[in-house]
Amino acid sequence: MEKIRLFDKTFKLFIPNAEIEKAIDEVAAKINKDNEGCTDIPVILCVLNGSMMFTSALMKRLDFTCELASIKLSSYEGTTTTGKVQELMGFTSNVSGRRVIVVEDIVDTGNTIVTLAEKLKEHNAREVKICTLLFKPEAYSKDLKLDYVGLSIPNAFIVGYGLDYNEVGRNFEDIYVLDKEERPLKFYVLFGPPGAGKGTQAAAMVDRYKLHHVSTGDLLRKEIAAGTELGRQAKALIEDGRLVPDDVVVRMIGQEFKTVKGVDGFLLDGFPRTIGQAEVLDDMLNKIGASLTAVVSIMIPDEMVIERISHRAAIEGRADDADVEIIRHRIETYHAQTEPEIAYYQKSGKYHEVDGVGTIEEVRDRIFALVDRF
Ligand code: AP5
Ligand code: MG
Repeated sequence: MEKIRLFDKTFKLFIPNAEIEKAIDEVAAKINKDNEGCTDIPVILCVLNGSMMFTSALMKRLDFTCELASIKLSSYEGTTTTGKVQELMGFTSNVSGRRVIVVEDIVDTGNTIVTLAEKLKEHNAREVKICTLLFKPEAYSKDLKLDYVGLSIPNAFIVGYGLDYNEVGRNFEDIYVLDKEERPLKFYVLFGPPGAGKGTQAAAMVDRYKLHHVSTGDLLRKEIAAGTELGRQAKALIEDGRLVPDDVVVRMIGQEFKTVKGVDGFLLDGFPRTIGQAEVLDDMLNKIGASLTAVVSIMIPDEMVIERISHRAAIEGRADDADVEIIRHRIETYHAQTEPEIAYYQKSGKYHEVDGVGTIEEVRDRIFALVDRF
């Protein structure tokens, strides 16, 4: 088939099955060679669900004695407080003292395999090798070496041969890519210290670029006002100038991505706020065939934060604005937990800084000059 339709998206043929089979032949030949003369029994660890087709095809080609185990991981459903990938279904083999070959369908950001490799080392695996059918070098941001790679591909969204879009499309024997004629959604992160003017500038950006504004601070304040369980948990942390746990905000964001339609993109204000959240966001976008467009960072000095927020306190009556000590604590939290994201985004070339000192209109025009380019 030249084209397939899955839910709202059209995909076109990208890698025909014959090419996939050839790549698997080559990977299997390398693994067989590396295992020549070995007397121990290595564990082939299939990372479900995506790599079940690849693992099955690969194992049929392996000519040494090996054992199969599987693991299911999720990058954002039920994340831990560090935002890291969590194990859902345990190994079915004991890996202590053994060699493990991890079999993945695709490696993009690398968050999953790095966490998995760490976990295997924690379980005392003697050697961990990574084998992946597909690799996206442009999206990969880790130092971990990949031992066996079937095919390197550009940073595009693909389905088929085990890979899914919202859990469908895994059954096709060929691999398909998202049809480029469909205009991709834009995803902007509005970054900056407390009181930098994120909320203020978001209002202008939303109109000009037809974006949906998602402020995790606003969403949390709504929960507090509604007196929900989540709101009760968040209240004390917010009023102490601390962050709420990653998994709470990640769930709220995921919900917005799922339900909001009819916009050209999303403007994330106050999210991500930790490296863990940034990694989860990359994985979430990957999963829906999108990627971050740009981080727009509004920078102002700490003294100006206190000045602006103290001024706002009288107007908006936010509990976390009421006291200079809380504001100072929010600034400390920003420096300690959020600022490290700058280096994270600089690495991927997505970080763009705008001077936040000046009138609201001056700052707005600087942002427009930047964002008009994307
Ligand atoms: P959140 O609501 O996001 O607060 P924040 O990051 O501290 O930022 P603010 O909303 O206070 O400032 P702003 O940058 O939007 O500035 P504004 O435009 O209002 O988060 C609150 C809390 O929720 C967090 O502390 C945390 O506990 C929790 N939370 C939220 N997200 C989380 C996450 N992802 N993970 C974990 N926890 C999370 O401007 C400020 C004032 O200055 C206004 O009065 C405005 O009119 C004025 N102003 C703006 N621009 C100018 C200008 N150019 N000149 C003069 N005045 C200006
Ligand atoms: Mg705000």
